[in-house]
Amino acid sequence: MAKEREQKKLMFGLIGNYSAELKLLLTTLFLLCSVATFLQFIPSRFTISASDLRVCISRVSQVVTSTPPSTSNSFISHLTTTLSPPPPPPPPPQENTTQNGILKRVFNPYGSASYNFITMGAYRGGFNTFAIIGISSKPLHLYSKPTYECKWEQTKKPNETTKTLSTVGYKILPDWGYGRVYTVVVVNCTFSEHVNIDNKGGKLVLFASTSGGGDRNFNITDKFEVLTEQPGTQDLSVFTSKPKYDYLYCGSSLYGNLNPQRVREWIAYHVKFFGPRSHFVIHDAGGVHEKVLEVLKPWMDLGYVTLQDIRDQERFDGYYHNQFMVVNDCLHRYKFMAKWMFFFDVDEYIYVPPKSTIKTVLDSLEEYNQFTIEQMPMISKVCHSDDYGKTYRKWGFEKLVYKDVKKGIRRDRKYAVQPRSLFATGVHMSQNLEGKTTHKTEGKIKYFHYHGTIAERRESCKMFVNSKQVTYDKNPYELDTTMRDIAGVIKKFELKMIGSSLQKTRQ
Ligand SMILES: *[C@@H]1O[C@H](CO)[C@@H](O)[C@H](O)[C@H]1NC(C)=O
Ligand SMILES: *[C@@H]1O[C@H](CO)[C@@H](O)[C@H](O)[C@H]1NC(C)=O
Ligand SMILES: *[C@@H]1O[C@H](CO)[C@@H](O)[C@H](O)[C@H]1NC(C)=O
Ligand SMILES: *[C@@H]1O[C@H](CO)[C@@H](O)[C@H](O)[C@H]1NC(C)=O
Repeated sequence: MAKEREQKKLMFGLIGNYSAELKLLLTTLFLLCSVATFLQFIPSRFTISASDLRVCISRVSQVVTSTPPSTSNSFISHLTTTLSPPPPPPPPPQENTTQNGILKRVFNPYGSASYNFITMGAYRGGFNTFAIIGISSKPLHLYSKPTYECKWEQTKKPNETTKTLSTVGYKILPDWGYGRVYTVVVVNCTFSEHVNIDNKGGKLVLFASTSGGGDRNFNITDKFEVLTEQPGTQDLSVFTSKPKYDYLYCGSSLYGNLNPQRVREWIAYHVKFFGPRSHFVIHDAGGVHEKVLEVLKPWMDLGYVTLQDIRDQERFDGYYHNQFMVVNDCLHRYKFMAKWMFFFDVDEYIYVPPKSTIKTVLDSLEEYNQFTIEQMPMISKVCHSDDYGKTYRKWGFEKLVYKDVKKGIRRDRKYAVQPRSLFATGVHMSQNLEGKTTHKTEGKIKYFHYHGTIAERRESCKMFVNSKQVTYDKNPYELDTTMRDIAGVIKKFELKMIGSSLQKTRQ
């Protein structure tokens, strides 16, 4: 390692001398290509086939930056090794014959297949507790027991010795085994005493140890800062005061060629439904293209929508654009900002029957910290013949009026929680919470699911029928105009709230 570093210095020194004579562009190119070439030859954990330039660039920043800065919304991969020796430089492949004539085979490890930890965010969850949200090598968690230790380092005055608190970090794996190369990890760091209560500032440092996973000969510990609190900035009152919002929507990763008109309808409907004390957090994993942004922008300007660009998570192969990480980040990031948090998708519409409102329903469910919501699956292809020839002008939930009524099918549910009681969450419900959960919400609240419409840019209606019942693909459907009947109200609401700027939106 030391030799490597020297070589690196040498390289950069060399380039430095030349750079005076070279144009900036040439220097940069030279630098990148040298490093790319160079990387192929250093036998270390950093060497992952640096074949394409993109990899080359990301490698460069990793190798050169020794301590990555701690920001709460970026993906930082941690390779900085401390405490235990790095793997030795592998010997050239060889075989040895021992005295008793046995051929001793040798196994030479190269590189590093997946990161020990990739952070998305770290958040305070009270006076003495924090949550660190990220992804980590799935086999490491599946087949061995990596361990975590959290340290709080109090900011010190020049002559003071640093006060450090330590605790064991306990991990939650909230993704039900859905991970791929990476699995989602929430590390809970709870200290035995209040942390930074005097507001002098400090930082939270995570020690992530493989504890023999990957290579039983090594306990490799990566140490990294996950959260910094500047002196005087900590406002501990948020943990005890009334939340800013009544309802907060945590969206899953948005991906694919989304239909801007469908997104327009969805956001208008839900702002109307949840009302002025609500907020929507949308995570763009590549789905918010220019036209989708156009329909979100007016609501962003009104303060209803926060759009987060999470496209960089695509580098790391987890389940469905790392949606479990994303929802857990959202949970902890906004935990104290909302009384209720909702988790569902942008092709789903929450509904409560007339005479009730979302407020009356949630007040009646107050004693539960979590409840799940029944699904009304709506078919995306069959429409009513009244709409024949005018479907292009109709909204999605206005023209898709046939509900799947096949019995005896277990359907996905969506859910809402009182986030202060949660430690981690999933996509269909949380299994890490305090308090009670109920599934008995039939008749109180439900959601209409328009599966297959959100990434469909052509006309959905493929078949028109003029009856209350219809069988399509051997499945029974029934006319349900609940949503269609309120389309007019939603359109008026949109016009009143944001004006006519979206009237020309097309799918
Ligand atoms: C093979 O044997 C040689 C000589 O005994 C020794 O120096 C070397 O370390 C051995 N290699 C391994 C991988 O055991
Ligand atoms: C961590 O776990 C403890 C004990 O289960 C819990 O009280 C605390 O709220 C959790 N912290 C976070 C940030 O979720
Ligand atoms: C810090 O220590 C130095 C040398 O020990 C001493 O001269 C200085 O006065 C100290 N400063 C403070 C603020 O205590
Ligand atoms: C690995 O090192 C960490 C940090 O020192 C320690 O907490 C952990 O217990 C060690 N694991 C094993 C299996 O020795």
